[in-house]
Amino acid sequence: MAKTQRGYRCTNCSWESVAYVGRCSQCNEWNTLEQFERASRPGPAARTGSRTGSVARTLPLADVTDEQGARLSTCIPELDRVLGGGIVPGSLLLVGGEPGIGKSTLMLQAAALLASQGQVVAYVCGEESPRQVRLRASRLGLDGAGVTLIPEANLDAALAAAEGIGAGVVIIDSIQSVYVEGLDTRSGGPAQLSEAGARLVAWAKANEIATFLTGHVTKGGEIAGPRLLEHLVDAVLYFESAEGGALRILRAVKNRFGATDEVGVFEMTGSGLRSVDNPSAAFLDAGDQSASGCAVTAVIEGSRPLAVEVQALAVQSYLAAPRRIASGLETSRLHLLLAVLSRRGGVNTGNLDIVATVSGGLRLRDPGTDLAVIAALASAVRDAALEPGTAYLGEVALSGAIRPVQQVQRRLGELARLGFQRCVVPAATPPVDGIELIPVRTLKDALSR
Ligand code: TYD
Ligand code: MG
Repeated sequence: MAKTQRGYRCTNCSWESVAYVGRCSQCNEWNTLEQFERASRPGPAARTGSRTGSVARTLPLADVTDEQGARLSTCIPELDRVLGGGIVPGSLLLVGGEPGIGKSTLMLQAAALLASQGQVVAYVCGEESPRQVRLRASRLGLDGAGVTLIPEANLDAALAAAEGIGAGVVIIDSIQSVYVEGLDTRSGGPAQLSEAGARLVAWAKANEIATFLTGHVTKGGEIAGPRLLEHLVDAVLYFESAEGGALRILRAVKNRFGATDEVGVFEMTGSGLRSVDNPSAAFLDAGDQSASGCAVTAVIEGSRPLAVEVQALAVQSYLAAPRRIASGLETSRLHLLLAVLSRRGGVNTGNLDIVATVSGGLRLRDPGTDLAVIAALASAVRDAALEPGTAYLGEVALSGAIRPVQQVQRRLGELARLGFQRCVVPAATPPVDGIELIPVRTLKDALSR
């Protein structure tokens, strides 16, 4: 392929500094691995400078089979759920999260369970020594039979070794710790990550080997490399957790073989990650519903409803610009809801420091939880607990109107299952067995309840 001083030569317009695989900044055409390979082959088309080189294979869509092939179960129920029912052979999966959240633990548990079903599993431990991996396995109570360690940081060498043992599943822990030979940039850097990602996609597909990559993400998730890989891989799973809590949430932010936004809930125990069977109860246990500033609501995460508790605290501020601290929800959303609460609900918070969190580490993205956030804030400001056994559902408009919520029936069903007796809901919500509905039209209505 045509390497230039500033990068690679675009296969379309011959511009000299494109990334190995990506869009050319000059002509905006894609350069793919195949194009580079074709361009570097001395065919007649390449010589005459034709735009596409050799002619690609064509095939009628109707003739392509849609058989997915058997999925491999990891025997970890919550991981299977997030993957959409198990691992699709030949898929490339990225597991991201902050350091120490449990990526290696989950991967080692999955490796051992897959191996116990007869899969040949290769574990590339670029980050830790084989002894460290062995210590973790012992702690997890795994004998490790059937798992082969590949302590190697050179990606091509590691993949060749995995092919050599006939692996069906390969785990690379972590993608930042391996490097691609021939690129003189440090491992974990953007150039290395893109190149490693591109090679891995081609390799996993060509050999039909399911490949997991772990990747470290910093708190905000901004600076870190794994975001560079998101468009290349088949599925992106991110680990989230509440500060100091044992609950771990594994969220599919992208999945070519299943639903996105599916979440798996785990608990980190002394002997590894355990799938949580009743996540709603676990999230509520992490809260304290009898205190002021606590309000329960329900969200739809992927394919299931989950109950969560919003907690708020309001204290006298001694700062010129009182503080607003949010975790589990966007600070901008907290600001917006405080503005609505002040203007439409008549509850002033201008001289108070406000903290709002979500129990268990779940992130609330769903506007259907607005009313619960507002209820928690109002309860915190008045320092009076909300009525026990009552939950809150509703989107709050800037006008103070309470708007309907998507999939409200399923949310109410989950709240009823957990023993909630009442729920404040938008007007015209259809009834659900086992829970009394308190319809409200405006924020004023809701606050007077
Ligand atoms: P780890 O899987 O090494 O995190 P990552 O690969 O995402 O960096 O998890 C490390 C943390 O998990 C560490 O703080 C110890 C804790 N842990 C447990 O609580 N129980 C266990 O059984 C194991 C193996 C780890
Ligand atoms: Mg690790």
